[in-house]
Amino acid sequence: MGNRSFLLVLTMALLRLSTASARKCELQGLWRNQLGSNMTLSALDATGGFTGSYHTAVAATNKQILVSPLKGVQQHPSAKGQVTFGFTVQWQFADSITVFVGQCFVDHRGKETLETTWLLREEVPSRKDSWKATRIGTNVFTRLK
Ligand code: BTN
Repeated sequence: MGNRSFLLVLTMALLRLSTASARKCELQGLWRNQLGSNMTLSALDATGGFTGSYHTAVAATNKQILVSPLKGVQQHPSAKGQVTFGFTVQWQFADSITVFVGQCFVDHRGKETLETTWLLREEVPSRKDSWKATRIGTNVFTRLK
């Protein structure tokens, strides 16, 4: 390979790298996690707030699963990078509530992933049962739309 071709290849590789690192991870859209649960997230408001709906594929109760609303906030609303966020799902078919915290990552091909950790608090009849009332887990979401 001559000097010119080498420089051309190098320039193109550097250009690709800088474009990839400038890619923004956006929360708005339709997402699915590894359990098969789907959620839709709205655009951010001026303060970084967003709303959405969550259709869980699994539940701790035997009740019929209903699509449930969520409310969240993104840290640094105008950030260009791999932002952090949190949201709460108010289940419409159970007495429990779930909070998620996470970060949006975008790889060199532009593929976005939401890496999250959740806490689910179920309602228990008395304080003596409080020790068993909280579950914790992780969910990884990828974009459907
Ligand atoms: C309940 O069973 O109390 C309400 C539904 C909880 C669904 C949980 S939330 C964390 C995990 N991720 C999901 O997509 N579903 C389960």
